Amino acid sequence: MLTRKNTVPIVSRSEKMGRDMRRKVTKAIFPVAGMGTRFLPATKAVPKEILSLVDRPLIQYAIDEAREAGIKEFIFVTSRGKSALEDYFDHSPNLEQELRKKGKIELLEQVRNTNMESGAIAYIRQHKALGLGHAVWCARRLIANEPFAVILPDDVIAGEESCLKQMVEAYEETGGSMVAAMEVPPEKASAYGVLDVKDDMGTMVSVKGMVEKPSVEDAPSNLAVIGRYILTPDVLNNIQKLKAGSGGEIQLTDAIAAEIEQERDVFGYRFRGQRFDCGSKAGFLQATVAFALARDDLKDDLSRYLHEIMAVKNAAQ
Ligand code: G1P
Repeated sequence: MLTRKNTVPIVSRSEKMGRDMRRKVTKAIFPVAGMGTRFLPATKAVPKEILSLVDRPLIQYAIDEAREAGIKEFIFVTSRGKSALEDYFDHSPNLEQELRKKGKIELLEQVRNTNMESGAIAYIRQHKALGLGHAVWCARRLIANEPFAVILPDDVIAGEESCLKQMVEAYEETGGSMVAAMEVPPEKASAYGVLDVKDDMGTMVSVKGMVEKPSVEDAPSNLAVIGRYILTPDVLNNIQKLKAGSGGEIQLTDAIAAEIEQERDVFGYRFRGQRFDCGSKAGFLQATVAFALARDDLKDDLSRYLHEIMAVKNAAQ
């Protein structure tokens, strides 16, 4: 186990190979059963995960991040009214043929990149909205006995290197369960799962407790859980035993906290990258602007426009 930054445990080659096999993360769960009430009426007929940042749906960012991290099996936990997600990842022969005919090769490539390999994607329905922990548990039979990732598509993380990839690499060294972590203003901590830190090693922290949406006074720190997890299959057994927690829901945070009580290692990982809370309107708008400003075809017009409206706004004050 890695306990301090820069300490490298001495392991033999065969030991390392065996460990690397055990710690290979190839499956990811995408909980997408939520009703998206914060975005109504837009989400009345369209799943929230299909809402687009510039021209790519939220879910595409999550999938790309997972692919970059080496994920091969994509498990969606869905609910009624989410069939647009299945269509989005399906091949679209008519559209592809039309684009080819018109010579729109770049667009054709972009559309093709949304296709999933046959058998790489599975959809499981969460029949009742019982919480994030329950959603993850719904996928238990597809996970079987392997470590797996969980990606919450509302949390979009921009950066040079996929957040999940950073975590997968760290996990290969540490084992245990791992959550993405980020410092938030103390008064905002009650909107998150919050870590009780045992040992702060810089990028990594080891964790001695986790609380879902604590009151500001009870928050053990301001280090919040962000929607990326690498979990050992034991967490699934813990979910099964949980009672409803914060908000009357079965919480993933509580299942990970139970790991700690069972004396298993749990780590927080301070990722490199900028996180946008696309579950909120303000976060969604900020992400839209940030992603548009990063695009060569949009940045000049958009930044000119932003300067203009800010100048008008400032003059009016
Ligand atoms: C979920 C998790 C919470 C985590 C958050 C990150 O909460 O339950 O622990 O901090 O995602 O976005 P939600 O925002 O779905 O209520």
